[in-house]
Amino acid sequence: MLKLRLNGQSVALDADPNMPLLYAIRDIQQLTGTKFGCGAGQCGACTVHIDGEPVRSCITPLSVAAGKSITTIEGLAHGAELHPVQQAWLDHNVPQCGYCQAGQMMSAAALLAQNPSPSDDEINNHMQGNICRCGTYPRIKKAIKQAGV
Ligand code: FES
Repeated sequence: MLKLRLNGQSVALDADPNMPLLYAIRDIQQLTGTKFGCGAGQCGACTVHIDGEPVRSCITPLSVAAGKSITTIEGLAHGAELHPVQQAWLDHNVPQCGYCQAGQMMSAAALLAQNPSPSDDEINNHMQGNICRCGTYPRIKKAIKQAGV
């Protein structure tokens, strides 16, 4: 039995420790906000936080998450109050198709937690692994700047 915290709740999973964390989140826990894109650590659609650090859950074995605190897009808000990144995403109408945006927001939230006022270069460097086929990058950058300080 693998124990971890998922969005603030204690969870015990009877699952293969080699299973990708993404599968445990989506298929066992039914939290489908986190998306499967490439499945190979290349696109960022599956980004979640482990102890506050952004990780690619498609290539992270469930065993790595054992005993840790996992946050998905469903746990980013504080109750009914949106995370500033989520509010900024709404204010700037960032998504087009939306598929990559949970991963984009999780990466952005991790950036702002460490650097509340990132420069354009810092945003570009941090977010370069999150691919958006609709090309919403300009709006993503504006939203990150709004959500920072
Ligand atoms: Fe994990 Fe693309 S689905 S990086």
